Amino acid sequence: MNLLNWRKEMSLGIEDIDRQHYMFFEILGRLHEAAVFESHISVLKGLAGDLCCYASLLFRGEENFIALTQDPTAREHLMEHAEFLHRVAVLEDVKILADRSRVRDIAEELGDWLEVHIGSFDHSLALRARPAQGRTALLHPTPTMDLPRLFESVAS
Ligand SMILES: [Fe+2]
Repeated sequence: MNLLNWRKEMSLGIEDIDRQHYMFFEILGRLHEAAVFESHISVLKGLAGDLCCYASLLFRGEENFIALTQDPTAREHLMEHAEFLHRVAVLEDVKILADRSRVRDIAEELGDWLEVHIGSFDHSLALRARPAQGRTALLHPTPTMDLPRLFESVAS
């Protein structure tokens, strides 16, 4: 069973961003599952590579949006992304990948990190994307919102 899932409570009310986070958890969950079920190292290597690529793309899109805002937490937000990428990069080491219990622990830690990150930094960023007319607009984003659209490029 995949324990690392995106849940509705993590929704930021912006469909594109939620889909990207959902996909992020999908890849992380598959990596965790592969470690739990002792999959071949080539499977783990592929998933670790996917996770690294997806994180880089998603963060780049988010950072482009951050650059357009006056977000006072921008610096810390970018540092969080850099720290996550550093932690994911550890999985490029074949010796670490060969230790399935370590990969499982890392995947769980990354899942915890991602959940906290979404609930704090990404949530704050989503609020900045909210137009002045009120909270309902966040739940139904308008075409004027210039948000990253990475999901399509990653999925294709
Ligand atoms: Fe973020």
